[in-house]
Amino acid sequence: MNRIEMLIGRMTLAEKIGQLTMTAAGSAVTGPVLAGDSTEAIRAGTVGNLLNLVGPGPVHQLQRLAVEESRLKIPLLIGLDVIHGHRTLFPVPLAEAALFDPATWTRTAREAAAEAAADGIAMTFAPMCDVSRDPRWGRTVEGPGEDPWLGRQIAAAKVRGFQGAHLSDPASIAAVAKHFCAYGPVTAGREYAAVDVSERTVHEVHLPSFEAAVAAGVAAVMPAFTDLAGIPMTAHQGLLKGWLRGRQGFDGVIVSDYNAIHELLHHGVAADVPEAAALALNAGVDIDMMAGAYRQGLPVALERGLVSLADVDAAVRRVLTLKERLGLFDDPFRRGSRAETPAALAARHELAREVAGRSLVLLKCEREALPLPASVRRIGLIGPLTDAAAEMRGPWWAAAAAEGQVSVLEGLTAALGATRVAHARGVEIATDDVHGIAAAVELCATVDSIVLCLGEAAVMSGEAASRADPVLPGRQRELAEAVLARARALGKPAVIVLFCGRPLILPWLFEHADAVLVAWFPGTQAGHGIADVLTGRRSPGGRTPISWPRTVGQVPIFFAQRPSGRPADPRDHFTSKYLDVPNDPAFAFGHGLTYGRFRYTQLQVTPSRVTPADTLEVRVDLTNEGSRAAEETVFVFTHDRVASTTRPLLELKGFARITLQPGASGSVTVRIAVAELRLLDARFEAVLEAGEFDVFAGPSADRSTLLAQRIVLAV
Ligand code: GLC
Repeated sequence: MNRIEMLIGRMTLAEKIGQLTMTAAGSAVTGPVLAGDSTEAIRAGTVGNLLNLVGPGPVHQLQRLAVEESRLKIPLLIGLDVIHGHRTLFPVPLAEAALFDPATWTRTAREAAAEAAADGIAMTFAPMCDVSRDPRWGRTVEGPGEDPWLGRQIAAAKVRGFQGAHLSDPASIAAVAKHFCAYGPVTAGREYAAVDVSERTVHEVHLPSFEAAVAAGVAAVMPAFTDLAGIPMTAHQGLLKGWLRGRQGFDGVIVSDYNAIHELLHHGVAADVPEAAALALNAGVDIDMMAGAYRQGLPVALERGLVSLADVDAAVRRVLTLKERLGLFDDPFRRGSRAETPAALAARHELAREVAGRSLVLLKCEREALPLPASVRRIGLIGPLTDAAAEMRGPWWAAAAAEGQVSVLEGLTAALGATRVAHARGVEIATDDVHGIAAAVELCATVDSIVLCLGEAAVMSGEAASRADPVLPGRQRELAEAVLARARALGKPAVIVLFCGRPLILPWLFEHADAVLVAWFPGTQAGHGIADVLTGRRSPGGRTPISWPRTVGQVPIFFAQRPSGRPADPRDHFTSKYLDVPNDPAFAFGHGLTYGRFRYTQLQVTPSRVTPADTLEVRVDLTNEGSRAAEETVFVFTHDRVASTTRPLLELKGFARITLQPGASGSVTVRIAVAELRLLDARFEAVLEAGEFDVFAGPSADRSTLLAQRIVLAV
């Protein structure tokens, strides 16, 4: 009999439920409920998992309690939200999505895992796989953007990075795909609100990234707080037991979100804690994070016959199996026993600087405002996010201290020298104080170019940070109006560096600024990464992974819209459009300028007649007609012209990146298995249907920029 079965045979009910319990240790606060001291419970074996504990010292201290003083000496599983880095932060996930580079997505996760494991962490509550098409929702910042196909690529890349080749590797940590599922379309973009989307949308948009995470071997899954069409995800037997464990064959651990089992009472589907515990366990939830609902409720639920001991044992078995796969039984102290070398840390910071620079999205650039000319004498660096080092972390900084983050002021000063950078905050991020605007305006006369650093504070996106009106907070608009007017009057270029966790609705700013560089929240090396792009050391290459609405009234807005029976036609009144704004976004998915200028010269799709076993070869020729070298991202979309269900006008199926010197021409080839042209039939089974498909290639989902070729699928 193996170790796990022997343990289960010896465990008391309290010890079994202890392995199904995760409580906070208090190093970080990531939710509304704070747990007390867990030491006695660890000794008693009634808590087997912790979150928010950081550092070899504290981790090994509590681990020693478990493996030396508890009766069965079962090691603790320690988890933390290592979302986009641990102590060294990479750009927030939405920003990193803008790289369109799976190898780098994996690499940054690998680096984060190594750093977290060195701190004793064995599980991260990441990747966050929630597709979002609503910038009002604060957690848009944590996810892959608006597209399910992109979400699949990111989920798989991140799982590979966090978990490495073997979970038992001391530098590997268990990944948790979250938040299962369809959390993004919360009603009206309001955090934790109910979700009501069609079953087809759940399968076509919100499940693919979780399917990819499972296929990549993700160790655990976390259900969302929300209810989906009347069933809270923490109690959703159909999707947890049916789709995830049944159809996907997921046999890993399901860990509830923070206090979510207890919150089934607020959802109104459980009358008391035992009922809530039973609903969760019967849906397949193994670990109760922070609610204490399993500890309080499962013994009663067993007495009432609401759950079976066999199901309790099955959950315990999955948790112990994960601990065994992590190597915790063989060496509970393996994570945190090996300090990282200074060289590893330096290389990580270099990577963080590179990724920060590559994640920036240049939405607009006119009057040659960027890059700043090498001859520039003095730069006016203005705005509340110029020296806001701590804000560069974004909303999920977990173990990353505010100290050590590089601000724009530091980065630009390091790049240009202190004498060439004049600085004025003008206003704060979100106060009503406008006294500093005059000094900021005066500064414009003494400099050659102006760089305005505007946007949100880190905590204005992320969890519990929905914004009904996602615009510039505080009095930043007044600062921008005054400075841009003065710059225009002086004939000096004005660049906006925009910090945000979601697309902001800024039509005035986009119209009046000469250039707009979206920085999102670039992480620890923010200032250097931004300075590299502003000074031309690096050409911007980021492409927005989410459409930028013109107004909140367009939300949800995304490129993969289904056709209307009355497609928009400006010549015909009775067609699908608004009276007051265009249908298209301010900036389309995939938009992002570079310091080059790329012309797409040819699209060649072969074969033009395909069968299910074929692979499409999509070749695109392009030329850099600009004066600087740059990296271009080419997107490939398809549209199924006639099918048994309505099909999105564009479906993203691939991308490729190419760097070209000025005047150089080149080509990229994207290979697409014909199986990728499948659609979900009425039973949500993937099927191929014969017929014509249009294949598109271009720089974004803006249809006016796309080359197209038709192919025929014979089944
Ligand atoms: C939070 C989040 C979840 C996170 C967990 C632990 O409330 O919803 O994403 O992993 O609690 O911090």
